Amino acid sequence: MIKVAIMGYGTVGSGVYEVIKTNQKSINKKVGQELEIKYVLDLREFPGDPVMDVLTHDFEDIINDEEVRIVAEVMGGLHPAYEFTRRCLEAGKSVCTSNKELVAEHGAELIQIAKDHQVNYLFEASVGGGIPIIRPLNSSLTADVILEISGILNGTTNYMLTKMAEEGLDYNEVLKEAQAKGYAELHPEADVEGWDACRKIAILTSLASGNQVDFRDIHTEGITKITKEDFLYAKKMKRAIKLLATSRKVGDTYCIMVSPALISRDNPLYMVNDVFNAVEVVGNMLGASMFYGSGAGKLPTASAVAGDMVDAARHLGKIITLFWSPEKLELAPVEESSRKFFVRMKSAEEARKYFGNVEIWDAGIPGEIGAVTPVMTEAEFAAKAEGADLIGMIRVED
Ligand code: HSE
Repeated sequence: MIKVAIMGYGTVGSGVYEVIKTNQKSINKKVGQELEIKYVLDLREFPGDPVMDVLTHDFEDIINDEEVRIVAEVMGGLHPAYEFTRRCLEAGKSVCTSNKELVAEHGAELIQIAKDHQVNYLFEASVGGGIPIIRPLNSSLTADVILEISGILNGTTNYMLTKMAEEGLDYNEVLKEAQAKGYAELHPEADVEGWDACRKIAILTSLASGNQVDFRDIHTEGITKITKEDFLYAKKMKRAIKLLATSRKVGDTYCIMVSPALISRDNPLYMVNDVFNAVEVVGNMLGASMFYGSGAGKLPTASAVAGDMVDAARHLGKIITLFWSPEKLELAPVEESSRKFFVRMKSAEEARKYFGNVEIWDAGIPGEIGAVTPVMTEAEFAAKAEGADLIGMIRVED
């Protein structure tokens, strides 16, 4: 019998408990012995919930119990999750997590600590919720050089952009609706400012490159400036507006950006709507491969955490190699990356004056037009846009 603990009985933690209890028989078969939840750590009480039988309020119960070999850290946030994770790994317990903040900040260090203590630190649920993407990148695609990763990595903003596109609602209306439905948090900044997607693409690029990507180095823009008028143009152009996280290989490094983009119908991410996530990975041998599914939510995320717990149970005493060293990856400057840009300006003449040979779009909005520039670098665009009275700008990706 292998005893495990779950730290945190919130949405994901209660999901992990449910996944293990519901699939107990099949999980035991796959592990080859019984996987028993010995503790659930939470400060709260849950009267009437069977979890009360294993509930503890004291982390020391878990750390001091040698029988506990695997711990799910599903508390979220950096502290005390970091300290608890370190102590578990140092005490010879494998840790499985959905905590992307912690993985993005301390992933390489925690993997090393795990290795030093012959245990594993696994984080499939930290990117794409229930979509298997960490394991494929780390194992199935490991013979490839990864040329590009591009994805819709945040469910909340994808839901909001889908609603704006389908119902013609403005940003603030859709945010209120998403909050009422529980899709967006009361403090939605991490999602709407792109920080959540930024951490996720940092994790994926760290695994693709084998070096530590500091998420603070990533050029990140959220969806707060997207308006319902932008969608009138998108419709005319037969394009979708998506919050894209892209990482492209440039020489020995990667150029990473998180920003809204107008994507064409030919782009496989075009059809990814609502809270779904998708990641397209391009390998130099494989070509393109697409991963799609529930990027958030209680059971999809919990399923990925529980999957890691099963894997950890099958590998007791053995290290699952992860290609991620603490050495920092210096990113390629985004200023040198090239693309077309969509701009909204007062007139076609103005657009031509600043950006040259543009393609003009009329969405029937009085006093303005839309224009798509020729391909140019970010630096060239910034120089040309200086002094131009832009009503809006969205990058264009094919
Ligand atoms: N807030 C995240 C999202 C949760 O909306 O995708 C999953 O990481």
